[in-house]
Amino acid sequence: MPEIGIIGGSGVYRMPSVELIKDAAVDTPYGEPSDAFKLLRVSGVEVVFLARHGAGHTMPPHKVNYRANIWGFKSLGVKRLLSLGAVGGINPVLAPGAIVVADQIIDMTTGRASTFYEKDEVYHVDFSEPFCPELRAAYIEAARAINLPVLTRGTYICTNGPRFETRAEIRYYSIIGADMVGMTAMPEAALAREAEICYGTIATVTNHAAGISTEKLTTTEVIETVNNASINLNALLLKTISLIKPERDCPCKDALKDAKL
Ligand code: HPA
Repeated sequence: MPEIGIIGGSGVYRMPSVELIKDAAVDTPYGEPSDAFKLLRVSGVEVVFLARHGAGHTMPPHKVNYRANIWGFKSLGVKRLLSLGAVGGINPVLAPGAIVVADQIIDMTTGRASTFYEKDEVYHVDFSEPFCPELRAAYIEAARAINLPVLTRGTYICTNGPRFETRAEIRYYSIIGADMVGMTAMPEAALAREAEICYGTIATVTNHAAGISTEKLTTTEVIETVNNASINLNALLLKTISLIKPERDCPCKDALKDAKL
């Protein structure tokens, strides 16, 4: 079974170099995943893809069944999960179109089921580095290899949405150290860690966050920027997939070791 998974927008499996092998519906104890998992062949490598917001992008970030999605990847044998997401730039360096290999997270979400261990068993997994160091290194190496400028670190603050933020919220997030704001990295990253799946996010800056520019924030702008960035993102994904080593030598694979109460 494929060991590499991709979660993101549906643009991925429409890449020219991607062949759809089959759909794989997965039953989970947590209900329905966002969509059928798609088994793909990407430059000769089999990967599993899931559209986080459903096939027609009909599922808002607070309604995504993060547990079912991560469980599904785990049950299909995925060990490395490449995540794509859109963010607003808080740090003025992050203009629309910038691509960031995130290295930290601040979680501002509420009311999302954020653990697989809520009864009988208690686990406290180490999350000081929320993204897999090997996947981060692979993204950065891939970007260099294809001459794509990326920012090699950045703190992602995850809000509940679906509304965009107020100016005061963004000012506050900036003060507490956030570089960019999105709505989906949590609890996805934490659940992947509990599932001992390596997880790494490539964030595409689609807009200046609220109040960083005087322009009104629109979903149209977000979609346009994602579409414009998709050729670069797809190239980055392809190169990253080719650089991922079969053996894992990172802490993610042993996340549950010594984590049980
Ligand atoms: N805020 C939150 N999520 C986002 C944004 C934003 O400005 N842009 C894209 N996703």
